Amino acid sequence: MILDTRIDLHDLIDLVITALDARDPYTFEHSWRVAELSEAIAIEIGVSDEWVQLVHVAAHLHDIGKIGVPDFVLNKKGRLSEYEFRLMQSHSRIGANIAEKNPILKEISGYILYHHERWDGKGYPEGVSGMDIPLGARIIAICDTFDAITSTRTYRSCLSCEKAFDEICRCSGTQFCPEVVDCFMSLKDRVPDMLCSVNNDINHSAFTRQEDSMQARSILPDTAE
Ligand SMILES: [Fe+2]
Ligand SMILES: [Fe+2]
Repeated sequence: MILDTRIDLHDLIDLVITALDARDPYTFEHSWRVAELSEAIAIEIGVSDEWVQLVHVAAHLHDIGKIGVPDFVLNKKGRLSEYEFRLMQSHSRIGANIAEKNPILKEISGYILYHHERWDGKGYPEGVSGMDIPLGARIIAICDTFDAITSTRTYRSCLSCEKAFDEICRCSGTQFCPEVVDCFMSLKDRVPDMLCSVNNDINHSAFTRQEDSMQARSILPDTAE
């Protein structure tokens, strides 16, 4: 049988990140917020609509490689050993390899691969620096850190947006690209509302997924145990 149904790219991304949600709900929600913030920076920079969409998709998928990180590392509450840390770090390369497989996503695989690189070259996986880091990766790096600081995790509570902006500014020129930091800072007043609206979308989507799974359970035959 030949399938002639075309799958929209956004449907495909949705499918992939929903798979990630089943594995790691924090990363799913985090990727959603990073996608919205990255898109806003890309618009602020003034790139083409097409590239804005690419950055949005790349940001959604930036941590998709965590699918390949073992549970004992992904779910560990305490401090990671050096070996576990290396396993965790492998997510950027695993994610880039996943994206490479698709002709459209191939273009953004570099943004995924380099999203933990630093402006001063002290990041991973390759230690590239400055303008050698693709712009998409430099944008995602800032939004990734901002969201990590403002999110509550099992091992620490969140900090305010104000403190997170201070931290991003402090690391401009060392961890982050100064020009992208300036663009992000120009969005400062709009970011809290942006996060509020994306968190509402996430909660709505979580409710729908819960309903779907309850419905799936209700149609199981009586004999199914
Ligand atoms: Fe990451
Ligand atoms: Fe991330």
